[in-house]
Amino acid sequence: MSLYAIGDLHLHFQSELKAPGQLHGRAWKNHEEKFRKNCARMITAEDTLLLLGDHSWGRSLAECGMDLQYIRDLPGRKILTRGNHDMFWDAKKTRQLNEQFGPELTFLQDSYETYGEYALVGTKGYTFEGPFYLDRRGRIAGWDEQAEEHAKKLVSRELTRLRTSFELARKDGYRKFIMLLHYPPTNILERSSGFTDMAEEYGAEQVIYAHCHGETRFHDSILGDFHGIRYSLASGDFLGWKPMKVLEQQGASGPI
Ligand SMILES: [Fe+2]
Ligand SMILES: [Fe+2]
Repeated sequence: MSLYAIGDLHLHFQSELKAPGQLHGRAWKNHEEKFRKNCARMITAEDTLLLLGDHSWGRSLAECGMDLQYIRDLPGRKILTRGNHDMFWDAKKTRQLNEQFGPELTFLQDSYETYGEYALVGTKGYTFEGPFYLDRRGRIAGWDEQAEEHAKKLVSRELTRLRTSFELARKDGYRKFIMLLHYPPTNILERSSGFTDMAEEYGAEQVIYAHCHGETRFHDSILGDFHGIRYSLASGDFLGWKPMKVLEQQGASGPI
């Protein structure tokens, strides 16, 4: 019994592909089939798979039916968090999604799920991604300040959601946390952020994020240990469509 994570399946069984790079990039060739086979080989019915956003290119639930069915057919318990491309998932309608697709799929938002003695706490997150202005040597010389102001509001909203989730878990007695984000916890200008601060405040053991695609973006944020917390990127193309093992099962279950 183990806990696995991956993000950014970017399925499009019945919707238009909005990122042409995905069609031609080597990493994305038959990725749905590669991932399905890897899951069949690695994951059992007793395992849990965390899917960290950007599930589907569909613009509405009607355009995501086959994509969600594909996820449903994967082995194990599936817990989904929101990505920036998940237009089918209005945060306010999370309960309806859980009613419609549960118990096989769990949509995690403003709440927490459990794995043994761990609380799994997650939100989409947000990072300012520019536009950045470069000087002649290609160094960042400035950025769009209006866009940065807007980003600050989104970050603040996501931090509130994350705190709500941590507090709910803590109230129920959980003291061990795995923190999930879709966006990386820091952008290319930052060494730390409200998200890393919150992970430290609640004593999360791991922070797992996705969203970064392609060799040039894989190192945009923290990888490895930072202030005693392990940070991992789990975007599908980074992992080569092999789910990342987060935890082996511990003995105890429930809060400690
Ligand atoms: Fe993505
Ligand atoms: Fe994304």
